[in-house]
Amino acid sequence: MQVKRFGVSLEENVLNKLDSFVKNSKFPNRSQAIRYLIKSSLVEEKVDKNKIVAGAIVIVYDHHKRELNDNLMNTQHDYHDVVLSTQHVHLDHDLCLETIAVKGNAKRLIELADLIIGTKGIKHGKFVMTDIE
Ligand code: NI
Repeated sequence: MQVKRFGVSLEENVLNKLDSFVKNSKFPNRSQAIRYLIKSSLVEEKVDKNKIVAGAIVIVYDHHKRELNDNLMNTQHDYHDVVLSTQHVHLDHDLCLETIAVKGNAKRLIELADLIIGTKGIKHGKFVMTDIE
């Protein structure tokens, strides 16, 4: 396949992070690392949305943020049919780490993950899923 070049503008701190990632993951160059990052973040796109999949939604948040706990709880109750379990760990005085195990229709899980990760106040969130059919 033909390889095309394009320019990317990045803040210096982001570029430094990319360079550490290249070094630590032993990629030969930035292009390889960026190719890997793009492909791995596009995996979700390839999953057949009607398949039954399982996965985990991992979030980190400050529990002092108003309404955040209520919103997270309401969302999980709305999707009780696909939420298997929720593990909550108090990381320190402010931060909580929550792992929500899920199983069900891929489309519904992506919808739930987007809602949870997009909840106002979530510092970091990631959804991993795998095909189980
Ligand atoms: Ni907590």
